[in-house]
Amino acid sequence: TSVSTYDYIVVGGGTSGLVVANRLSELENINVLVIEAGGSAYDNVNVTDTGGYGNAFGTEIDWAYKTKDQEYGGGAPQTVRAGKALGGTSLINGMVYTRAQKSQIDAWETVGNKGWNWETLFPYYKKGEGFQVPDDYSWLEGSGVAYDPADHGYKGPLKVGWSSNQLNDGLAQKLNTTYQNMDVPIPYNKDANGGQMVGYTLYPKTVDSKLNIREDAARAYYYPYQSRSNLHVWLNTNVNKLTWKSGDDAIADGVEVTLANGTTSIVKASREIILAAGSLKSPLLLELSGVGNPDVLSKYGIKTKVNLPTVGENLQDQMNNGLAFDSKTKYSKVPDYVAYPSVGQMFSNATAVGKQLLANLPKYAAQVASANGNVTKSKDIERFFKIQWDLIFKSHIPVAEILLEPSGYTYDTEYWATVPFARGNVHISSADPTAAASIDPKYFMLDFDLQAQAQAARFIRQIFQTEPFASMAGSETSPGLSSVAAGADDQGWSSFIKNNYRSNFHPISTAAMMPKEVGGVVDTSLKVYGVSNVRVVDASVMPFQVCGHLQSTVYAVAERAADIIKNEN
Ligand code: FDA
Repeated sequence: TSVSTYDYIVVGGGTSGLVVANRLSELENINVLVIEAGGSAYDNVNVTDTGGYGNAFGTEIDWAYKTKDQEYGGGAPQTVRAGKALGGTSLINGMVYTRAQKSQIDAWETVGNKGWNWETLFPYYKKGEGFQVPDDYSWLEGSGVAYDPADHGYKGPLKVGWSSNQLNDGLAQKLNTTYQNMDVPIPYNKDANGGQMVGYTLYPKTVDSKLNIREDAARAYYYPYQSRSNLHVWLNTNVNKLTWKSGDDAIADGVEVTLANGTTSIVKASREIILAAGSLKSPLLLELSGVGNPDVLSKYGIKTKVNLPTVGENLQDQMNNGLAFDSKTKYSKVPDYVAYPSVGQMFSNATAVGKQLLANLPKYAAQVASANGNVTKSKDIERFFKIQWDLIFKSHIPVAEILLEPSGYTYDTEYWATVPFARGNVHISSADPTAAASIDPKYFMLDFDLQAQAQAARFIRQIFQTEPFASMAGSETSPGLSSVAAGADDQGWSSFIKNNYRSNFHPISTAAMMPKEVGGVVDTSLKVYGVSNVRVVDASVMPFQVCGHLQSTVYAVAERAADIIKNEN
């Protein structure tokens, strides 16, 4: 059907965008158009194969954004992946379904977002979730699969559960024993999705357990609903920018798009434009539309419509490294065993580490502010850093994620410090909407970020020196003791870490939900400051990094966004 004006235009048919489009189109009198730059990936085996993580990288459904040369992080640019097809990044992600530590979501309120806390978000995590209770308990034996029924939702569209790929008899228990034998034991956590993440666990994933295929945003929120006559999707269509009603007020009335055939046209929206293009795209669309820092916009001849200098700032990602060890036995399946140590479990000298970090916060805040030309203010950053410090040292959130991935005769590990302090940014580098952006996460800009990343590596070495793992594993093959000596200090770990890390693909906060005066881009109803009818609903709005992987929180925020929008109409 062709309609010339829609009530709502959702920009980006990804993880968050399809949630909002689905929920708004529950209202029969409302017309919703989703505009997606990519095509359909419904039958793409690189998407559906639950064991195929990474197969989609570098293909046509991966934006493969390039960062600037990373001055503090090894010098080279990094690739930040993101999905480009209906379903967005949920099509290519690792399918891990983990949320956040309760106190981290409560910190969203502490920073000034009244009404945004764990208690108000938890129901939205559950609303979206269609938890699949494992029906064959025999395969649970030895696999480590466990869950707390109270932590899950059962009626939501998004299937969450376990796939047969995740099973591996007996290893779960051996790893658990190893964690219990560590100098500071890591407690077993039956279910990390109830707001308490610390410990050792085996998480569920976004999989269809019966079909053993990936569950993504399109499969959950679009395909089963595609016959709704008020839900429209345009594929292979790039949104270039917003269009404005004439006059000084910033009221958006549509978007300019480039269609698959290369022609440019305007699509009108009578109510709102909802940006869901991802944290490395949505802020750029604001800038291309004249919403942002006048210094950035004027460089590319874009007239400032709304002076909002923090658009694209506050970018936070994590850095991913891995160690590898020989295994004495062969593994064929791929389980996902994870440990989330708190600071006291990872650092034997946590109190001293905390003291030193606290003393460094003013210096770190000044460094961040000066790196972005004081667009974000040192005193505000310092306050955020203190909140982050409190989360680490008082609320004892996990400070690292430690993943064990046996395959063949190898124990691969992956790990990342969960809450780096570095803040970077993303900005346009041209008025051409198809031009590559300037993306600068500033990996390793602040010493603590390396300190935490190095300590996580030492923690992994400790796992492999603890029984029974010590006897199950052979020697360390990467980096290996000849490359990074036993007992190496942070400096000793530095070159291995900085030359071998990658983006952890968790970029957030580039259109942060925060009060405007401390650098926010959207208010608590996710509306862009100074604009009457444009919201951002994707990972851009999260003010702080979470310890779980992002998608569950992205889905939950989008579910809540849909309710906010519905309640206003
Ligand atoms: P998302 O990227 O989903 O959606 C944006 C959409 O907008 C895309 O479809 C894009 O094509 C479209 N778009 C962009 N610009 C446009 C334009 N100008 N016009 C029209 N359309 C446009 N999380 C997790 O919980 N568990 C995990 O295991 C992993 N693993 C993982 C691995 C990899 C490789 C990546 C890249 C990411 C993860 N993540 C993850 C992170 C998680 O998947 C991610 O944070 C969310 O899916 C992001 O959802 P959004 O809605 O913010 O953007």
